[in-house]
Amino acid sequence: MPSKSLYIATYGCQMNVYDSGRLGSLMRQKGWAMAESQDQADFIFVNTCSIREKAARRVIGHLKRLRALKLKNPDLLLGVGGCVAEQEGRRLIEEVPWLNLVAGPARLGEIPEIMETLSADMPPVVLAGPSPEAHGRDGGPPLVPMAAAGQVGPSRVPDQKGPAPISSFLTIMSGCDNYCAYCVVPYLRGPEISRPREEILEEARDLVGRGGVELTLLGQNVNSYGRPGHRGGEDFVSLLEEVSRIPGLWRLRFTTSHPKDFPPSLVGLFGKLPNLCEHLHLPLQAGSDRILEAMGRRYSKTRYLELVACLRKSCPGLALSTDIIVGFPGETEEEFLETVAMLETVGFDSIFSFKYSDRPMTKANLLPGKIPEEEKARRLSFLQATQKAITMAKHQSMVGRTLEVLVFGLGRRPGQLSGRARDMSLVNFDGPAWLVGRLAMVDIIEAWPVSLIGRLAGTNGDGP
Ligand code: SAH
Ligand code: SF4
Ligand code: F3S
Repeated sequence: MPSKSLYIATYGCQMNVYDSGRLGSLMRQKGWAMAESQDQADFIFVNTCSIREKAARRVIGHLKRLRALKLKNPDLLLGVGGCVAEQEGRRLIEEVPWLNLVAGPARLGEIPEIMETLSADMPPVVLAGPSPEAHGRDGGPPLVPMAAAGQVGPSRVPDQKGPAPISSFLTIMSGCDNYCAYCVVPYLRGPEISRPREEILEEARDLVGRGGVELTLLGQNVNSYGRPGHRGGEDFVSLLEEVSRIPGLWRLRFTTSHPKDFPPSLVGLFGKLPNLCEHLHLPLQAGSDRILEAMGRRYSKTRYLELVACLRKSCPGLALSTDIIVGFPGETEEEFLETVAMLETVGFDSIFSFKYSDRPMTKANLLPGKIPEEEKARRLSFLQATQKAITMAKHQSMVGRTLEVLVFGLGRRPGQLSGRARDMSLVNFDGPAWLVGRLAMVDIIEAWPVSLIGRLAGTNGDGP
């Protein structure tokens, strides 16, 4: 009998990408195959995000469109995971009655067993809240088997036994204890829990052993890995050092870091560990001390700038990216312009910027002084235009340099390859397909707003 097939659609952050990879891997072990597209699948799993209202609405739209497939194939099974599943739980079934399974992020490990017997004529299964196997913070086995990691799209889930992806995310901690005033994540992903160090190292060695070239250690706030009271791990700095020593690991990154938890020992690793890449994502969120305080971020503009200065002293070429929220409740025009000024002062290489969005359960939801949608849109486009010019100037300054590029795949044009430099710059250049998965040396010849154009100068003789 041909095996049943699964299609996973992933929305949201890298945590969800990691979780989708893990689910795919667990399902494969139970004999499921990965479907190429939604209409060929026996089971469609939508891994969802609720960080902003728009993200949550998009997911509901997707689920509603799946009704047509369900009408064509009544045996089709539909599941929802991720943060919308956690937030809405059983309410999702009321809104989308053709669902068969709703499972929050902590319950992912239970899905393979449930899918062995679930059929479309059975009542829907709803799993939210902490896993029944959770042992709290002081020891005990992992919450769910975390057998595989992978940078995967909806239909590309790495085979555990085959080659590893060129680049993989590796979750080192789950949850968040920070409760930033605007953010729904701590309510949906629970408290911070660090994965045991040995488990992380084993997974990292396995990925590199199967040909993985790049690893990104992942968590909402990786810097608090192994904080006293957490289950597992010692501190983040020694974990990073140990992962970096794995032979054959050419590139190491981590995300996300909270600026309030950035010890000098971590700063000092940039420019010191040879495979730790010269790029850091350091969310600023806002440039005004009053707004930072209202957001509960627990650092000031001055502290952020001091940290950036230390980082650049340790590693002069360090590229920085950040997250910005415009239109937090009560944000005045002057306060917004302070954020804009920070883009210039720091000189970020790139930013991710968002209009403030009211989220259920959060403190900011209850704050007065909500900014009208059109005003938030105006601020966002002004901010983005400012950053566009900064990024373009950075890109222009790179013309004439030679960068080491990890080739991820083929570019849009025939004969073109696409990859990333150590500083995360996107580089497209002409070259042979066998360079995919390898390190190429590329002369930068042209600057574009979001990418660089290069000319192949050679391969990195030491690298893969
Ligand atoms: N843990 C990470 C990222 C969390 S979510 C961190 O602390 O940086 C990614 C980004 O989404 C956040 O950095 C923030 O800029 C944005 N974000 C979170 N909640 C938001 C909200 N309610 N409205 C708009 N943007 C939001
Ligand atoms: Fe959300 Fe703040 Fe936690 Fe990041 S650190 S996930 S923004 S609460
Ligand atoms: Fe979204 Fe949940 Fe990640 S809200 S950003 S999927 S932790």
